[in-house]
Amino acid sequence: MMYCDRLQKRSTQTNNISSVLLTMSSELICLTAAIDEANSAPHLAIPQLNTDGRHFTLNRMGGNFASSVKNVEVADYFLPTALRPGSKVLELGAAYGLVCSEAIRRGLPAICHYVVNDLDKRHLLIFARRLAEEFPLQVAELEGRLSLLHGEFPSSRVVELLMQSGEGQFDAVLSTHFLGWLKPDALVKAFEVVGRLLKPGGVLCIRGSTPYMGYVRQEVRDAIDRQSAEYAQSPCIKMPTAGFIPDFRQALPDRDDIDVEAVMHEIPTGHYFTITAPLVKKLAEDNGMRIERSEYVSDRFNEDAPDLWNGWALDGRERLVVIARKTDSLARH
Ligand SMILES: C[S@@+](CC[C@H](N)C(=O)[O-])C[C@H]1O[C@@H](n2cnc3c(N)ncnc32)[C@H](O)[C@@H]1O
Repeated sequence: MMYCDRLQKRSTQTNNISSVLLTMSSELICLTAAIDEANSAPHLAIPQLNTDGRHFTLNRMGGNFASSVKNVEVADYFLPTALRPGSKVLELGAAYGLVCSEAIRRGLPAICHYVVNDLDKRHLLIFARRLAEEFPLQVAELEGRLSLLHGEFPSSRVVELLMQSGEGQFDAVLSTHFLGWLKPDALVKAFEVVGRLLKPGGVLCIRGSTPYMGYVRQEVRDAIDRQSAEYAQSPCIKMPTAGFIPDFRQALPDRDDIDVEAVMHEIPTGHYFTITAPLVKKLAEDNGMRIERSEYVSDRFNEDAPDLWNGWALDGRERLVVIARKTDSLARH
């Protein structure tokens, strides 16, 4: 019997409105339907763990860090919030949902709502099947707590569904290695939407790649530094391009110490938005959030294999972690 049918025979009582939305939208996939769909597509599987500590995504949009939970924004802010009874959280660009799986492992409360979003439906199906394998007895309970939201954030449809689900009601939004895939207009809209979704006191937890990576040419980095400072100081610039690299592979440096061809599969094709502290600060503050923590960090994926890190490493500022907390009022410029 299909998972969906089995569960319909059991209590369908849920503690949130995701089930109401399920009946109205193809973007919101019911957990049991996702498990059934994944089971009928056995070729769908999470790729093997890469030596850099990531599972590559199926759409070649970077990887999903198996060790995300060790990151400060996840461990200190997002997970504790997700595990608080009554909380409502959103994870953007979650890929195979490894942070959500960890939240379940640690005991997602009976009353909560965790929205897992990704552009690629295959990632969400793999996530669902892995949940069924790891927590077979909990699927019925999890169905009411999880919403799998397939689609591009912040497209109008996805935003509409999220607003229905809880404008001003989210306790936390997690964005790790997600913002980089957006174009400037979408980046601006993403912060506007998150500012509207968060409740006062709610947190936006960000980790992302900066221009201070070994795979970015010095002059590109210098230009981004200049533009970021201008953007931060000028109330007139509404559309940030500081950090936006239209073709990442064109920004690669000439390096004779690294075989760039050999690592090309790790490097984004097309555009990539590298983020800086001034850029994120302005976008957050423009949308009613206050910076609580902002720090550049080095993100050694695999300390046991430091040679794999050589290409990305530069000066210890390769990643930016930002925690922005929603204030009561919008302080627009
Ligand atoms: C580098 S992976 C990051 C996965 C995970 N957050 C982590 O840090 O390990 C980027 C993910 O974002 C998703 N993605 C990219 N653009 C997106 C968009 N506009 N809306 C939703 N998901 C998106 C991709 O499908 C991919 O799974």
